[in-house]
Amino acid sequence: MWDLSKYAVPWLGAAKIYGLADVDDAIHHPQKARMFVNECPLPPSDKVVEAVVRAARRGNRYPGTSPELRARIGKLHGVGPDQVLLVGGSSEIIDMAARVFLQPGDEIIIPNPTFSMYEIRATVVGGKPVIVDTKPDLSYDTDAMLAAVTPRTKLIIVCNPNNPTGCFIDERDLTRIVETGIPIFLDEAYLEFYPEKESKVSWIAKYPNIFVTHTFSKAFGLAGIRFGYMVASEEMIKIFVKVQIPWSASVMSLAAAEAILENHEELRQKRELSRKSIDFFCKTLAQIPGVKPYHSHGNYMLVDASATGKTSKEIVDHVSGQGFLIKAMPPLHGRKGFIRITPGTDAENQALAAALKKCLAP
Ligand SMILES: Cc1ncc(COP(=O)(O)O)c(C=O)c1O
Repeated sequence: MWDLSKYAVPWLGAAKIYGLADVDDAIHHPQKARMFVNECPLPPSDKVVEAVVRAARRGNRYPGTSPELRARIGKLHGVGPDQVLLVGGSSEIIDMAARVFLQPGDEIIIPNPTFSMYEIRATVVGGKPVIVDTKPDLSYDTDAMLAAVTPRTKLIIVCNPNNPTGCFIDERDLTRIVETGIPIFLDEAYLEFYPEKESKVSWIAKYPNIFVTHTFSKAFGLAGIRFGYMVASEEMIKIFVKVQIPWSASVMSLAAAEAILENHEELRQKRELSRKSIDFFCKTLAQIPGVKPYHSHGNYMLVDASATGKTSKEIVDHVSGQGFLIKAMPPLHGRKGFIRITPGTDAENQALAAALKKCLAP
């Protein structure tokens, strides 16, 4: 019998798949509220949809490198077009970063908890994830991250604000990490929800080891359309271009991005809905004895219900039976009742809060 494992690179044996079974399940149960993958509950505006349809009529043509859109995005951050790389979703940058920096056995420092894609794409190229737990209050443990650096450390992940904890890293701590000179992946996927906080793109001139990513999947609400970008030094962009598959952002994705950037009101509405919903869940869930909601700067929030005696799986199964899909989180610091909620519409939020109260109240 033919043996695939004799030919496939050996480290793929240990690599995990970023599973989409929960998304498939949601698609097959459209009556259930999708409150588990940090999507925007509002569909794209007519302006965006019309731009996508117009672009689809040119769908027989390859896209180029979109200098105008890169210039426009660059202007948002005070940099030129050659410091911007456009992609079909920022997960592509995570994959590209693994291919740019990691040889088999090289180490990548990843905080825990955070977005699981970093670890997955690192293991696909044979990289060695070095997982560093956050502190008991779930803030970044910078001392532990710095102590984990070895001569084989080639990349450090800082997700800011972090998914799922919702908090920002302390600026002095970030400076200490950046000053190691090791490449720093600064993921700002959720920063548009909190424009009061400045992007760290402004740090690139001083610290060329930083690269910053943004996505249109979250506050812009275009997760299914797929668009994201990276900002870095020109030298860093050039090396990422070497590993990028050309045309990864389709003409439809590019058109959607252009259209939504012209429509400030759409971003404002989506951001306001999310922020209002986070405040609602924080207030409402904090009233349930034994439940600790973590305020978030993204469109998701972590809730620790361990003190109620319920496990995350029990809670998620219970509310799924009531028509709500939320995410069970792995145990953290010995606590087993963590869930993550992505707010939906006002009606969905009210109904989920009621279902959670029923499940968790003593
Ligand atoms: C922190 C973080 N970065 C990146 C992504 C991926 O986003 P995209 O849809 O742009 O690939 C996510 C998605 O959940 C995320 O949570």
